[in-house]
Amino acid sequence: MDPTTLARSERKRMGAHYTPPALARLLADKIIEYMGPPVAGRVRVLDPACGDGKLLQAAMEALRRRGVEGSRVVGVEADASALAEARKTLTGHGDDVVELIAGDFLHLAVGFQPQRDLWPDPAPEGGLHGDFDVVIANPPYVRTQVLGAARAQQLARQFELSGRIDLSHVFIQAMTLALRAGGILGIITSNRFMSTLAGKAIRAFVSTNIELLELIDLGDTKLFEAAVLPAVLLGRRRDHRPSSSRCVVPFARVYSQLRTAPDKVSLMPRSGTVVEALAAGDEGIIRVSDGTYDITRGFLSITPGSDDVWALLSPRESDLVARLQEKSCGTIGDVAHVRVGIKTTADDVFIRKDWASLPTEKRPESELLRPLLSHEDACRWAMQRQHRPLGQVLYPHFVSGGAKRVADLKCYPRTLAYLEDFRSRLEARRYVVEAGRKWYEVWVPQDPGAWQSPKLVFPDISPEPRFFLVEEDYVVNGNCYWLMLRPEASEDLLYLILAVANSTLMTRFHDAAFGNKLYAGRRRYITQYVAKYPLPDDHTKVARHIVLLARKVVTLARTGNTEQAGQIEQAIDALVHEAYGFDLNGEPQ
Ligand SMILES: C[S@@+](CC[C@H](N)C(=O)[O-])C[C@H]1O[C@@H](n2cnc3c(N)ncnc32)[C@H](O)[C@@H]1O
Repeated sequence: MDPTTLARSERKRMGAHYTPPALARLLADKIIEYMGPPVAGRVRVLDPACGDGKLLQAAMEALRRRGVEGSRVVGVEADASALAEARKTLTGHGDDVVELIAGDFLHLAVGFQPQRDLWPDPAPEGGLHGDFDVVIANPPYVRTQVLGAARAQQLARQFELSGRIDLSHVFIQAMTLALRAGGILGIITSNRFMSTLAGKAIRAFVSTNIELLELIDLGDTKLFEAAVLPAVLLGRRRDHRPSSSRCVVPFARVYSQLRTAPDKVSLMPRSGTVVEALAAGDEGIIRVSDGTYDITRGFLSITPGSDDVWALLSPRESDLVARLQEKSCGTIGDVAHVRVGIKTTADDVFIRKDWASLPTEKRPESELLRPLLSHEDACRWAMQRQHRPLGQVLYPHFVSGGAKRVADLKCYPRTLAYLEDFRSRLEARRYVVEAGRKWYEVWVPQDPGAWQSPKLVFPDISPEPRFFLVEEDYVVNGNCYWLMLRPEASEDLLYLILAVANSTLMTRFHDAAFGNKLYAGRRRYITQYVAKYPLPDDHTKVARHIVLLARKVVTLARTGNTEQAGQIEQAIDALVHEAYGFDLNGEPQ
């Protein structure tokens, strides 16, 4: 069965995005290469989420190419129709060679958890004794939200993981425990666990229990239909707890290059596709049949047991990050609060552009309708003076006597009449009511008193930085973030941050330090990243010059003078480079 025939929601629930054949072969070849000659007798291979069996087939073929005969493969699959496909794929090898098990691998895996006796419902042994030579897998990637909180919590407890786990984290742990000491793990999974907060526990688990052999971040190569960006992880199960000395792991990272001039293509590839280019060890900007890509190679240093982010940086990128941090005297987070905008959890009730078209008796009182800045209002530097936010939010929150309060709807009869029409929907947000709050509240209103302060606003996802100054009393929507200076910071700092955050140098820092690009070159701008931007000393001459020009460019942007603003923007960019000791080509001065 082709997983594309599964309904989209069903595919999401099962995490079923199958591995394309070229990638299956690359993974299988690498595993067998790292495996070395088999220790004794047969090689036992497991795919715990085998889908149509193509990864197991690739593993068997790779073993055969290496002259290893008599392997035995085990596939587990929860979806009966996929398992039937696997049976067809692997037909003709004989029952003593292929064993396919219908079931939930995680249930079976409880059988080889260290403390399984403590579980009320220990799984049957099911033939999985935790002594496989090879695990090859593309485990289901199902986020907590889709998994459901109850199931996520149960799995986290059972597998002793903490934080916002997703199904692939649990699989990685269970698959590792299915290996014998010295056995090889080769998996394809989302690259997110390498850089996210949610990946902390699994990074610590992997670095403790696995000697990492190689990492490949497949970035936005679109090798899968899934929305997540995939990565390949290859490692060897350790036979004892590691010493704390750091390990050095080779990595490759590949992202598509959307707008590359022909003279920037650095390499005539030895290969026809991006997967072949990776297998051949190509590096640099390559043009292949399926697109133009930038392949970066380097080494990642990991301390066993550490939950540090795995940033796959080339030596040049590491230098850039180190130099920026060395030349800075703090981060944005030290001088400003960086927050996401409001979350209503019922946007079509609270946010509209057509409030004026409602019948008068149901048109909320104007005191509760506030201009709302959203993605669609975002720009660089500042909005044009005549621009008004396109939407308005019904915002029943205010500050009085220094405390956040909720409007009493008895005083706002038209708002009450409007909201009554949606009462059952709003009350269905049980988390609001159960938190002791009014049924008509916005779920995350942020601090209503803070909207009056000057702030920088930026969209959460954008191909380039779009930080802009907002001095008006506007509310910010949840698809944007905003930052506001801490009380002791001077206003000049807001302009310095604006200039730094919009610069090409900080974009390079962002890519290098957080490596979290999405499809089509878009970047994610969130608190976790922006708060870590290093800032230059604001007392230096160059910083004061930056502030002066940033003020100018804001004024020009407000009047719509884009040509002059563009020229000043270039001057600011050069000064930002200078502030960190770089020339405009990004070379240290
Ligand atoms: C990403 S697909 C990978 C399939 C195949 N190994 C490949 O690489 O093409 C993940 C598979 O895991 C299966 N699956 C999901 N949850 C499972 C579970 N708890 N136990 C076993 N299989 C599961 C899904 O049905 C799906 O076929």
